[in-house]
Amino acid sequence: MSNVDSPVIVALDYPEMAPALELANALDPTACRLKVGKELFTAEGPALVERLQSLGFDVFLDLKFHDIPNTVAGALRSAADLGVWMANVHVSGGRRMLEASVDAIAGLPKPPLLIGVTVLTSMDAGDFAELAYRGSLEEQVLRLAGLARDCGLQGVVCSAQEAASLRESLGASFALVTPGIRPAGSVADDQRRVLTPAEAVAAGASYLVVGRPITRAEDPAAALQAINASL
Ligand code: C5P
Repeated sequence: MSNVDSPVIVALDYPEMAPALELANALDPTACRLKVGKELFTAEGPALVERLQSLGFDVFLDLKFHDIPNTVAGALRSAADLGVWMANVHVSGGRRMLEASVDAIAGLPKPPLLIGVTVLTSMDAGDFAELAYRGSLEEQVLRLAGLARDCGLQGVVCSAQEAASLRESLGASFALVTPGIRPAGSVADDQRRVLTPAEAVAAGASYLVVGRPITRAEDPAAALQAINASL
């Protein structure tokens, strides 16, 4: 059982182990969780995840698996063997891939939370139109989130702006993992539509993915503490 008293997941967006460990060493594993994505994992692999876990952190392995059912199921078993707290797959891999994902880790003593990616929030209406899906981008997000829930996933990644409508249609127990978070008064960087931590939680977010406001802060532990205190 995790004893983390915060919805914050700090995104370790670094190219290598050293700065990632330096940041982890500055943070309290009961005050946040950590996200390892494709850049850092491709460079440093499972050894880095193990190091972070040995420091006491819950790790979200953000590799967004999207492949045939058998391959994704195997990847999730590997993630579960590694002991990660959360993992994710693209919902657009379809029902059989999602069900194989759920089955792959069902019954394990400590399975990772399984989260779906709906439509990448980097896509705008023009990018979306080019893919020629049916309906609007917003309808696609809702449809894919519903499919994820029907297949037994525990939540989806969504923008904070989508959180309120997803919370309303998917119910209280479905996890909403939201990036695009900026504490009041901080710079938006390349994020276009941002909410404060408190606004995102009020909109229904279960977990807040926060990168640069913490990783680039002069005092990351203090930045994290301020976010936690604002909630
Ligand atoms: O530094 P910042 O707080 O913008 O970092 C946000 C993190 O969340 C990054 O790791 C980014 O890749 C990730 N993310 C995002 N938007 C999404 C999905 C993931 O910003 N829709």
